[in-house]
Amino acid sequence: MSEAAGRPIRWHPALVTLHWLTLLLVVTQFVVASPMRDETRNLVERFEYYQLHKSVGLTVAGLIVLRLVLRLTVAAPPPANPGRWLRVASDTVHAGLYLCLIVLPVTGFLMVSSAPLQIPTLYFGWFAVPHPIGPDKATYELMRGLHYWLGNLLLALAAIHVAAALVHALVWRDGLLRRMSFGRRWVELRGDQP
Ligand code: HEM
Ligand code: HEM
Repeated sequence: MSEAAGRPIRWHPALVTLHWLTLLLVVTQFVVASPMRDETRNLVERFEYYQLHKSVGLTVAGLIVLRLVLRLTVAAPPPANPGRWLRVASDTVHAGLYLCLIVLPVTGFLMVSSAPLQIPTLYFGWFAVPHPIGPDKATYELMRGLHYWLGNLLLALAAIHVAAALVHALVWRDGLLRRMSFGRRWVELRGDQP
């Protein structure tokens, strides 16, 4: 940060990039989940969809680790919401979203690793990712159930999150969306208007 730099006025460009990239990848996951589980499709096609879902999901896992490291080390803009309860509510939803983004790939990977029918996980066709555990029906059922419910939880939290973003943009018109966008700079300079 230069000497003239002060308080961040938006999220760091790396965090902005990771936010929108994660959105794109998560949408892909939900879109792909339906044809991959469609039993009327042929198996080769479903296999490709499964591999895509697993590869994109593992990518989300890597990106979320990077994002959390940056989130905890790079300066953040001040809290967006004025009231205490709004702040608690938004922090809770954000924490829930982060939790889903971590636990969904973990449960997904443990599900395929413990599946009775072992199918390799080919990361975008480049290499096979080793499965850490072998077939185990109880673990498989547990992970499959958790994966399903976490998917629903993520959808519910994302719906609240997007609704809140819309309220900020259309009702309160407080420029919150600008905090999650790329601008000329991410910290205010001396003499800048807040
Ligand atoms: C952010 C990451 C992920 C998201 C949002 C996600 C989302 C979903 C969703 C919505 C479903 C459909 C659930 C249902 O209706 O039963 C699903 C199924 C599945 N996912 Fe993921 N997933 C993610 C990561 C992964 C990863 C990393 C793997 C494995 C390496 C994986 C493996 C699977 C499998 C095998 C199924 C099919 C389960 C079944 O047979 O019903 N997922 N996922
Ligand atoms: C059109 C959809 C979306 C919009 C407009 C949007 C907008 C925003 C905005 C403006 C912020 C910054 C809030 C602040 O400055 O305090 C934010 C933060 C965040 N968003 Fe989104 N978002 C969207 C979708 C998503 C989705 C789908 C996810 C999760 C998969 C997500 C996860 C997060 C998280 C975890 C934060 C918290 C950042 C932090 O405090 O580290 N967003 N979003």
